[in-house]
Amino acid sequence: MTIVILTVRFHAGVMSRLDTDAVHLGREDLAARGVHVPPLDLSTTYPLPSVDDGGAAYERLATGGRPEASDSLVYQRLWNPNVDRFERSVAGLEGLPGAVAFATGMAALSAVLVATVAAGRPHVVGVRPLYGGTDHVLATGLLGTRVTWAAPDRIAEAIGPDTGLVVVETPANPTVDLVDLAAVVAQAGDVPVLVDNTFATPVLQRPGDHGAALVLHSATKFMGGHGDVMGGVVAAGEEWQVRLRQVRALTGGLLHPRAAYDLHRGLQTMPLRVRAQQESAAVLAGRLAEHAAVARVRYPGLKECDPTGLVGTQMSGPGSMLAVELAGGYAAAAGTAQRCRLITHAVSLGGVDTLIQHPAGLTHRPVEAAARPSDALLRLSVGLEDVEDLWADLERALG
Ligand SMILES: Cc1ncc(COP(=O)(O)O)c(C=O)c1O
Repeated sequence: MTIVILTVRFHAGVMSRLDTDAVHLGREDLAARGVHVPPLDLSTTYPLPSVDDGGAAYERLATGGRPEASDSLVYQRLWNPNVDRFERSVAGLEGLPGAVAFATGMAALSAVLVATVAAGRPHVVGVRPLYGGTDHVLATGLLGTRVTWAAPDRIAEAIGPDTGLVVVETPANPTVDLVDLAAVVAQAGDVPVLVDNTFATPVLQRPGDHGAALVLHSATKFMGGHGDVMGGVVAAGEEWQVRLRQVRALTGGLLHPRAAYDLHRGLQTMPLRVRAQQESAAVLAGRLAEHAAVARVRYPGLKECDPTGLVGTQMSGPGSMLAVELAGGYAAAAGTAQRCRLITHAVSLGGVDTLIQHPAGLTHRPVEAAARPSDALLRLSVGLEDVEDLWADLERALG
């Protein structure tokens, strides 16, 4: 097997802007306030100047609007300053006009689906693979949507008169398959495309630059970065923001201000973490590809996983998520996950510590059998440990 690890390439101009933005966005007013970090506002309710003024503010916020300068914020479910700071930072990093944050990534996705159904276009075209929870909520139609699964090059023919959304992930969970976003957007035509950008983060890929209307993150992952806070966020244009804020206000899946504070802080180090984790992932992918117990490595930095060269164009680097299919099938995969010591056998991803998990048995368990990932597949989220320690643990666990 010929293995070519692409050198990690960054667009120099974008990189320096993004690093600066990650540190400063959502903090523009701090110096004028005489503080160095954002004040944490835990208020669940806010004093009202009068019934009339309070009522006007309530109406603005409950219908998805933003507060005016003199407005009372009325109630935490309608608006919170820490959530607003996190959202402004994510929007800037994704290069989109705004963002709306939620309690989790699934709450964020649910809000998009509810808004899609409410707009009278409940048909969704889904490109598999997707995160197991996303697949599950679409397959069950729990929120009133109806799904057609389509290959990335068959999206146009899957679209009908009531199609309200195309859903795609790249790199996809758990196989790290890549999808050409410009090609997807071209096929979707007027139908908005939602890209789950959790694996790449805006450090490596900005789907909005390729025409995606909605960019979703499980902020629980690389944005928080330390495995201790949950959140979700959707970056989008003004019209979608209004719809999503209204769904959030009326259904209540809001992000807690403390979680927003932690996620906003996490963004400051996200570019550094993503690049360092990526460096180790590239080394591990190369070594795993040479290991006798490994039948196949899936990593965007391997030439055979990126035949059309999306790394270097759509993505500025291959990221820190990889998957391996073991020659010994399910028994070898389950045994390897259990034998890891330094690497934690756990779901989730994107944190400073390396995690390994068996998608078919865990995160993708609800996916219908024909679309479920191979039983021989393990997914690795590479963290910040010394790469030699990670390799020693993997080599021992692989036996
Ligand atoms: C790619 C992807 N999208 C969405 C989600 C859902 O996010 P959350 O767990 O924050 O609800 C996950 C969770 O693992 C994920 O991996």
